[in-house]
Amino acid sequence: MIAGAPAAGKGTQCAKIVEKYKLVHISVGDILRDEVKNGTPAGKKAKDFMDRGVLVPDEVVVEMVKARLAEGDVKQRGWLLDGYPRSASQAEAIEKEGIRPDVFLLINVPDELLVERVVGRRLDPQTGAIYHLKYSPPSADIVSRLIQRSDDTEDKCRVRVATHNANVDAVVGYYKDVKVDIDGTQSMQDVFEAICTALDETIAKSDPLEQYC
Ligand code: AP5
Repeated sequence: MIAGAPAAGKGTQCAKIVEKYKLVHISVGDILRDEVKNGTPAGKKAKDFMDRGVLVPDEVVVEMVKARLAEGDVKQRGWLLDGYPRSASQAEAIEKEGIRPDVFLLINVPDELLVERVVGRRLDPQTGAIYHLKYSPPSADIVSRLIQRSDDTEDKCRVRVATHNANVDAVVGYYKDVKVDIDGTQSMQDVFEAICTALDETIAKSDPLEQYC
């Protein structure tokens, strides 16, 4: 599992993690945005909550996540759950199914850095790549096709950060035994190296004969 405030760098790191460790990346935010884009019943319910920067109700999210975790590719390759659980009730829902992470990565970034990261973020709709106008600038040939998320405004960012801060301790409480704190203020590469160290140690502990090569 990977957790952290809005714009802490979860999506950026997940792209690198899945490339190296071949896990299935399950981003609840991405799934919800797809549902909204496709106008599904779940998407229609979720849209207003996402626009306001608050949590989408459990009745929409929990079954969606449980269903995705039950799919074949996940069972075969393992999962990297990004943006779930975000509340005690969501953690409880998967605890009941016996679903627990081997490691819970918590990317820590002080609130004052998050707004700048949010408003400077740009996404490539063709590749899904995440850019930042200052910290990870796109090349000139793709800049015109990049988009900005509708919740990436300063006001909405502040609500999203407050939502995160109100819930994070309850979620962490479920995973204290496997939590690894990651300093998210470092460069993207240094954050990734800290994550790899945590994952490699976890893999080595879980089965010394099957260490990642
Ligand atoms: P979601 O899509 O999950 O958004 P979020 O948690 O707010 O996180 P972000 O995607 O904004 O940030 P990130 O940490 O991935 O950062 P990134 O790598 O892009 O959720 C959206 C909404 O969906 C929620 O508000 C809620 O309504 C709903 N939702 C989702 N899950 C839910 C759930 N479980 N229950 C109910 N509702 C749910 O990086 C950000 C920027 O910073 C980028 O531009 C990047 O280039 C830059 N950057 C990254 N790392 C660094 C670094 N080390 N240094 C400098 N810049 C960096």
